[in-house]
Amino acid sequence: VEKPIRILVLNGSIRAGNYTAMASALVVDELRRHPKVHVEVITIGELKLDPPGINPNSTDAKRLQDAVKGATAVVIVTPEYHGSFSSLVKLAIENLGFPSVLAGKPIALLGVAAGTIGAIKSLEHLRGVLSHVGAMVLPLLTSVPNVQSVFDKEGHCLDPKVEKMVRGVATQLMQYIENAVCPRVTLEALLRGEPVGAAH
Ligand SMILES: Cc1cc2nc3c(=O)[nH]c(=O)nc-3n(C[C@H](O)[C@H](O)[C@H](O)COP(=O)(O)O)c2cc1C
Repeated sequence: VEKPIRILVLNGSIRAGNYTAMASALVVDELRRHPKVHVEVITIGELKLDPPGINPNSTDAKRLQDAVKGATAVVIVTPEYHGSFSSLVKLAIENLGFPSVLAGKPIALLGVAAGTIGAIKSLEHLRGVLSHVGAMVLPLLTSVPNVQSVFDKEGHCLDPKVEKMVRGVATQLMQYIENAVCPRVTLEALLRGEPVGAAH
């Protein structure tokens, strides 16, 4: 397999001109520098996901579940809305099965907020929910405060320190995969011709 490591990036904002996608794009760019990494980005709001308890295996729910199942690891990027993570992120989690296909998945979290205190509350809440469903949330939470002055309207990051921090989400995740995931599964998966993590 040419690109055995598959990273799924989930974006939690569908707002026109959203800053979540801008921060996410930096992580994606950083991940794509790794020759062995395939990156898929899903904007949750573009899927047709039903409320919890209704049609849990709809076409788009299945699509999301398959994307998670096939991923070596997941990055979730959420805006801070009303002191927590976006309801779109919760809706994605509700559509990932019970028990959840997120169980055992390494997950890196990135939050962006217009406010000065950043997206810490969103990330703490999200970490709690993801731990509840059995995901392996990486310890370093990355929060971008004042996000609307850190990026311009075209999505350029105006603060090199913030850009380095956001790109660090990718670095942290790749280090985890290389140190903790790959030694276990890479060789076996490569022999079977499967993407790393797909069998889990
Ligand atoms: C429904 C809603 C609730 C929001 N609540 C908060 C909040 O609690 N704290 C905060 O710092 N910003 C809040 N914001 C502003 C967002 O953080 C801001 O839009 C930021 O750009 C991230 O969201 P985006 O990715 O949709 O752009 C809120 C925005 C919306 C649309």
